[in-house]
Amino acid sequence: QTTALAAGSIGKDGYRHYMEKELHEHPLVIGQTLQRMVDPASRRVMLPEMPFDLASVPRAVITACGSAFYAGMIGRYWLEDIARLPVDIDVASEMRYRNPPLTAGSLGLLISQSGETADTLAALRSLREKAVHILSVLNVEHSTMARESDVVLGTVAGPEISVASTKAFTAQLTVLACLTIATARARGTLDALGEEELVSALLDLPSRAAEVFTQGEAVRRMAQVVAEARDVLYLGRGSMFPVAMEGALKLKEITYIHAEAYAAGEMKHGPISLIDRTVPIVASAPYTPLFDKTLSNLQEAKARGGRLLVFTDTKGAERVSAIAEDMVVLPHVHDFVAPILQTIPVQMLAYEVAVLKGTDVDQPRNLAKSVTVE
Ligand code: G6P
Repeated sequence: QTTALAAGSIGKDGYRHYMEKELHEHPLVIGQTLQRMVDPASRRVMLPEMPFDLASVPRAVITACGSAFYAGMIGRYWLEDIARLPVDIDVASEMRYRNPPLTAGSLGLLISQSGETADTLAALRSLREKAVHILSVLNVEHSTMARESDVVLGTVAGPEISVASTKAFTAQLTVLACLTIATARARGTLDALGEEELVSALLDLPSRAAEVFTQGEAVRRMAQVVAEARDVLYLGRGSMFPVAMEGALKLKEITYIHAEAYAAGEMKHGPISLIDRTVPIVASAPYTPLFDKTLSNLQEAKARGGRLLVFTDTKGAERVSAIAEDMVVLPHVHDFVAPILQTIPVQMLAYEVAVLKGTDVDQPRNLAKSVTVE
């Protein structure tokens, strides 16, 4: 039931902005969060004692705001696919008024960096009235949500100063990944071998995440194109769709460029009419089982004159290079953890565009780090 913040300095440590420093802390916070949740000897996920049994939860309701909501969307893909748990999800500002019918003993899964966001807190309280168990994924130990939850899973991200969330997001994903493994084990949908495979993929992440920063030059090249645009379309499929949403949100927040994220397969039902040379398309397309599908969507966009800027991995690079104007190549990792790794360069892209545009990166206009009013 506790969350200790990572040791870390409060200054910028020579970085230009807090956001840049916090981006570079991704490998560290993923590693620290895993240290909390994975037993090094057995390499098994070990969650704190829970006042309820994950095996008997009939359904989970996930709710959050902003980036934390996108982390929740990725969590939904994992919990459904790996733990075979039915999941409902909505932004907290909607969930608090939705009154979904819920069986007692369901799980309310709240995600928040600050633990103080007014809508998320109100959603927590409305779920509480339905006699559901409240599990919160939080970064701030002594927060209101922490006090009102049955159990807290802490993200060990340390203080996040930049208004736009970065490292807290990958730490939230790391916790949700571990929660998925524990839930799957409890529900009998993951055997020991399966757990070993997923845990290995997670433990491999901090070093793979550190390698992402060798791609800084490619990200800055992409940033030159994006900085000239008025509108940008972000695309992704499956667990890469929320990654695209996170990329679009980050771009809007700190560069004031309009960006929209679409599920790649849905593009043909609307935004395809927007595509021309002036609307760059930023796609997250690592080599996962949905790679071919994503690539064919990108080909459709290219055929209509779209400029493709693609985040892929070493296994996808050759085929992406045949159609993309530019690409960023990350290490290939297990599908399960690919959304965690692929988040890092989309956040870096927004940061580099903001630097080019000269906006106030850490304190974007009209935004607050923690929105404590409705
Ligand atoms: C604000 C911040 C976002 C953040 C959201 C949710 O809008 O600008 O970066 O994702 O609040 O905050 P929370 O503290 O609940 O995660």
